[in-house]
Amino acid sequence: MIPFDYQPRTRVVFGPNKVDSLGELAGELGARRALLVSDPGIIAAGHAERGLAAMRRAGIETHLFSDVGENPTTDHVEAGLAIAKRYDPELIIGFGGGSSMDCAKGINFLYSNGGRMHDYWGVGKATRPMLQMIAVPTTSGTGSETQSFALISDSKTHVKMACGDKKASFRIAILDPTLTLSQPPRVTALTGIDALAHALESYVAKVRNPVSMAFSREAWLLIGENLGRVLNNPEDLDARGGMQLGACFAGLAIENSMLGATHALANPLTTHFDIPHGQAIGLMLPHVIRFNAHTCGRLYQDLLEGTGGTNGFPKPETGADGLADFVVRLAEKAGLPHRLSECGVEQARLGTMATEAGMQWTATFNPRPVAEAELLELYRTAF
Ligand SMILES: [Fe+2]
Repeated sequence: MIPFDYQPRTRVVFGPNKVDSLGELAGELGARRALLVSDPGIIAAGHAERGLAAMRRAGIETHLFSDVGENPTTDHVEAGLAIAKRYDPELIIGFGGGSSMDCAKGINFLYSNGGRMHDYWGVGKATRPMLQMIAVPTTSGTGSETQSFALISDSKTHVKMACGDKKASFRIAILDPTLTLSQPPRVTALTGIDALAHALESYVAKVRNPVSMAFSREAWLLIGENLGRVLNNPEDLDARGGMQLGACFAGLAIENSMLGATHALANPLTTHFDIPHGQAIGLMLPHVIRFNAHTCGRLYQDLLEGTGGTNGFPKPETGADGLADFVVRLAEKAGLPHRLSECGVEQARLGTMATEAGMQWTATFNPRPVAEAELLELYRTAF
């Protein structure tokens, strides 16, 4: 029997055009002034304006901070903090991909609790209450909308700091699939493979429990069925909705469990060779599944049996290898490369990266123990 402590913190509102209720929902939280955190791409697509219009209709004074970049840094957070200090918001809205949502959390840490981002690196470092927040994700990937962690990079050292606190959870997440229709195909591909990995890694992680597994299982069903569909037809709103829910459930799975070796191996690839997170994940995930099968093949088998082998899912009898092949086929369909050698990775650097992968927090939660030697072997297999 596995004990757990599950407390839902985020109200999830799902449906086409739900973004238009942003003002109403913000009003329910009692906010009179808000800061909306977004990025230039989301503003150019007209999405942020829909959110701002909804806030105006509700009579809530709302200011925009639009300078979030990919992989938000301490500089982005500081710039947002300056705007927050000028307008004194009662609510912060993270509107965009994982970067906007994480930056919103970062701004909230500093605005509510003072100090600098490094003070919140780790878990539960905020001592004072934090502002209420609403998430409006425009991609189906990180699941940041249902997690209490913000990933913020030190702008000088580029070290990614995972800053987590239950008080940094969004009070409401608005999942509106119409906002994901305009994503560039490459964003759909990279965020989709990442979300799939979140479902599969959290399902087998050492700290899994009945709650996290329920979310992982549902996320696997939704993402496994719909990722191929959105890659084939980006306008398929039902499939977009399935992806958005799947990514959100995968976020809840991580919040209640953890990730594994794929994420540990992916980070050094991003740091050393600038390989985007989703691409690094797609390169490593099939190899980690085959490696983990030795320890948790039964769990992978359960996931396949849950699908009955229909709707494009692999036949249950193909086991972990069938699951790994399924991921390879999806990555191929997404136009992602197969091998590290195709992405400019130098063989001579694999050892250094294996050392760094071994130091990642996520590595400690992999179901089959991984030390430097195993991680190096996984890089070599993927090379
Ligand atoms: Fe990820």
